[in-house]
Amino acid sequence: MTATIRPMQPADMNRVLAIERQCHGYPWPEEIFNDELAADHAHIDVLEEDGEIAGYLCWWLIAGEIEIQNVATALRYRRRGVGRRLMEYLLAEAARLEVSRMLLEVRVGNVGAIALYRAFGFTDCGLRRTYYPDGEDALLMEKFLGE
Ligand SMILES: CC(C)(COP(=O)(O)OP(=O)(O)OC[C@H]1O[C@@H](n2cnc3c(N)ncnc32)[C@H](O)[C@@H]1OP(=O)(O)O)[C@@H](O)C(=O)NCCC(=O)NCCS
Repeated sequence: MTATIRPMQPADMNRVLAIERQCHGYPWPEEIFNDELAADHAHIDVLEEDGEIAGYLCWWLIAGEIEIQNVATALRYRRRGVGRRLMEYLLAEAARLEVSRMLLEVRVGNVGAIALYRAFGFTDCGLRRTYYPDGEDALLMEKFLGE
């Protein structure tokens, strides 16, 4: 089994959209992925396993900080370390880019994602009440680097 992490290309769009729709109740439409691909501050990295996209990670680099926008693993690849490998990759990028802080927001009920982020040393730093369209709260998490 060979896995590689590489920047998303426009040709990956349909496969990424299929995963996005599996993973989120309010999936990003194609326009948002196109905007992210076009923006200088935005990055989308896909993890490919034996030629299949298993997951992806969208992040922004702004003012020396990384903000995680989206992370998703296709259903049939769950709990096989795809999310962990994407996060390891991002932490290596953060070190290379000399980022001071990483931050994200996540639904308070998203037990799996919160466990993943905690495993990488993210800690709670705020709560946005009724943040999501269905009224769920958002937990804010951060990780300081270079300390
Ligand atoms: C969150 C998500 C990306 C995790 O991806 P994954 O590839 O299955 O995660 P991994 O296999 O790398 O898991 C790494 C660790 O994270 C934690 N974890 C992941 N999923 C978990 C779950 N459902 N419940 C509890 N812990 C979980 C565990 O500590 C796990 O280690 P372990 O398997 O050795 O116990 C995936 O569940 C997903 O796509 N969810 C839907 C989209 C989403 O909610 N994204 C995050 C908000 S933007």
